[in-house]
Amino acid sequence: MQELQQSSKVLCSGQRVVDLGCWPGGWLQVASPIVGAQGRIVGVDLAALEPPLDLGNVLTLVLDLASADAAEKILQALGGPADVVLCDAAPKLTGVRAVDRAKEEAILETISNLLPKLLRPGGSLIAKLLECPEAQAIERAWRQRFRTRKVTKPDASRKGTTERYFIGIGFDSVDAE
Ligand SMILES: C[S@@+](CC[C@H](N)C(=O)[O-])C[C@H]1O[C@@H](n2cnc3c(N)ncnc32)[C@H](O)[C@@H]1O
Repeated sequence: MQELQQSSKVLCSGQRVVDLGCWPGGWLQVASPIVGAQGRIVGVDLAALEPPLDLGNVLTLVLDLASADAAEKILQALGGPADVVLCDAAPKLTGVRAVDRAKEEAILETISNLLPKLLRPGGSLIAKLLECPEAQAIERAWRQRFRTRKVTKPDASRKGTTERYFIGIGFDSVDAE
């Protein structure tokens, strides 16, 4: 996250930020001092942070991003639409390629559906692009929704993985519900 922030500078003081797939809290710890006391960060994961992070501007929710009320609960906790959506969500891998790719695809689709509900017009996205059959189509769709966009593979990214991150700035919320 540190490297992604250094190259993109999307996080700033006073922002509302949501971190989708936040466990065990590494990204929350990077974002917290940057958004500061005037900002608010909501971290969401299937798993609870144990022990909880002692950061005054961070609230965490144990929640399945695919659940029907996920957007509503997140917006309520944030107090309004996010300036920045961070997403490092990834499934627990089984080792069975077809199963894992289907799970990765389901997460990317979930994030795509949540995006217009959570992100304010003009806001920014940093999201992990998982390798799956739909990844290219989803990346293309995301590219069309942001004024400035790039895909990057940070040096800190695990060696031997296909991990890439999409950075989009200036969200166009034209299809937002
Ligand atoms: C690579 S970890 C995130 C690491 C985190 N960015 C950090 O810096 O500590 C991916 C997380 O995505 C979460 N995740 C996967 N599917 C999810 C879902 N449907 N709802 C909520 N969280 C999910 C997993 O539970 C896992 O903790």
